[in-house]
Amino acid sequence: MPKLIVGNWKMNGLQADSRDLAEKLAAGMKGDPSNDFHMVVCPPATMIAPVAAVLKGSAIRWGGQDCHAEASGAFTGDIAAPMLKDLGCDFVILGHSERRQYHEETSAQVAAKAKQAYAAGLAVIICVGELDAQRSAGEQESVVARQLAESIPAEALPLNTVIAYEPVWAIGTGKTASAEDIRQMHAFIRGKVGRMQILYGGSVKAENAREILHTENVDGVLVGGASLKAEAFMAIAAASRLP
Ligand code: 13P
Repeated sequence: MPKLIVGNWKMNGLQADSRDLAEKLAAGMKGDPSNDFHMVVCPPATMIAPVAAVLKGSAIRWGGQDCHAEASGAFTGDIAAPMLKDLGCDFVILGHSERRQYHEETSAQVAAKAKQAYAAGLAVIICVGELDAQRSAGEQESVVARQLAESIPAEALPLNTVIAYEPVWAIGTGKTASAEDIRQMHAFIRGKVGRMQILYGGSVKAENAREILHTENVDGVLVGGASLKAEAFMAIAAASRLP
């Protein structure tokens, strides 16, 4: 199965640099048969339309970084799943640790958002992962088990749901989980979610992508910082290929 290589641009990018990044990625994918990976980018909401205009007709698909649990209504500042679909999104990231942390998003809210996303025809990328202190206390599996149980709605299928394991202590810190930590946690998650794709995220870069992508039960990666540079992101994607 091709690896899923997802770029989470987070709150980065104005029109010129977002278009430029998308153009470079589209150009980079042109000569690539891409049998080894599928590429997805998730720009900030304001940049989805301009990026979509660049990526249309390319092999790269795009998604949002969050959506509301209602399809429309009086929710100032929020974005509904049908709005993302209207911009050609195929995916939405839900329950990212930054939303759980800074917006106090609960797993129950993530599950409600996922239901709206399915109703709009989007696939969801549901993020789970333990804090540093939870791993130090040996609680990483119980934390992740609870997040999975509460964040994934009954409607979830391997076709519409991707799980991203992102240990919070590895996000934007330059610290990556070891291949053995990743292997163990992904095997644990596999036991819970069956055939759903499982991505790893947290300080993935060109230098460590090959080892991570070829670890058992790693079906792809969710990349933050390194997805903002076309060359680095393309190198990560290219690491999907076996040498
Ligand atoms: P970094 O790749 O910058 O560590 O971010 C990971 C992440 O949070 C992707 O969603």
